[in-house]
Amino acid sequence: MEIFKKIAPLKAFLEGIRRSENTIGLVPTMGALHNGHLALINASKAQNSVTICTIYINPTQFNNPRDLEKYPRNIDRDLELLQTAGCDVAFCPENAEMYESKPHLKFDFGSLGNVMEGKHRPGHFSGVALVVSKLFNVIRPDNAYFGQKDWQQFAIIQQVVQELKFDIKLHSIPTLREQDGLAMSSRNLRLSFHERPKATVFYKALLEARKDLRMGEPISKVKERVSEIVGKTAGASLEYFEVAESKNLNVLEFVNGAEMPILCIAGYIGEIRLIDNMFLK
Ligand code: PAJ
Repeated sequence: MEIFKKIAPLKAFLEGIRRSENTIGLVPTMGALHNGHLALINASKAQNSVTICTIYINPTQFNNPRDLEKYPRNIDRDLELLQTAGCDVAFCPENAEMYESKPHLKFDFGSLGNVMEGKHRPGHFSGVALVVSKLFNVIRPDNAYFGQKDWQQFAIIQQVVQELKFDIKLHSIPTLREQDGLAMSSRNLRLSFHERPKATVFYKALLEARKDLRMGEPISKVKERVSEIVGKTAGASLEYFEVAESKNLNVLEFVNGAEMPILCIAGYIGEIRLIDNMFLK
C-alpha cells in the first residue's frame, strides 16, 4: 500500500494511474477504522482498479471542541487494517496540508442542512462539504463511497456534487452493525464497559418505531414511544427522532404519500453522541 501525507506527491502518483485508464475509488474517513469502513473499501475494490482511503480528522466539521479532542486516533492500526483489506493507497494529511490558512468558504444547504444533524450541529455540514470538496479536487476519483449511517451527510454530498458539477459517481453502502444491533462507529470506542450495552437503545427504538409506523401509528405517537424507550435507559438521552423523506430530508408529519421515508435518531449515552437510521420500507 502506498502511503501519502502530502498532496503534491499523491497527485503525481494518481496522474500516472489515470493515464492508464484505470478507475479510482475514494473512501473518505476520519480513521479509528472498523468493519463499516472496511465495507466501503470492499465496495470500492470491487468496482475500481485503485482504491484510496483518506484518514483525516477534519477540525472544521466539529462543532464541539471536546468531541474533536477526544475523537479516537489510531493511525498505525488503521494502516494495518487497510493493508490487510487490500486498499491500494492511504492519504493521511496533517492539518496544515488541508488548511493552509483559516478557511473563508461556508456552505449553506438550506432545507437540507437545517434539520436533524444540521440543526443540532451548527456548521457541521459546511465543514464536511469543505473537506470532501478538497478531497474530490485533489484526488478526482471516478467513484466515492459513503455509509448509509450518515444519511444526511450523503444527501449533502450529493448536493455538492450536483451543484459544483464534480464528475464523480456517489455510492451509499448499508450500515454495518455489531451483533447486538449497535451501528458500528468510531465513537463506540469511547463508550465505557457499562455504557456499551446501553448504546443499543437507539437501534431498538428504531426497530420499534418502524414496526409501529408500518402498523399505521401516526408519527406523533411514535415519537412519544421513542422518547419513552430512550428515557427508560439510565444514562441515555434522546436528541431527536424524525421521520423524513430520504431524498430531500423534508421532515414528515405523516408517512402516507411519502416516497421513501427514513427514520433518523440521535442521542447521547453519557457524553458520547450517537446517530442511527433505518428506511421505513
Ligand atoms: P467517518 O465517521 O470516519 O466515516 C467515514 C465513512 O464511513 C462515512 O461515509 C460513514 O457514513 C461510513 N460509516 C461509518 N460507520 C459505518 C457503518 N457502521 N457502516 C457503514 N458505513 C459506515 O463520515 C466521516 O467520517 C466524515 O464526515 C468524512 C466524510 C470523512 C468527512 O470528514
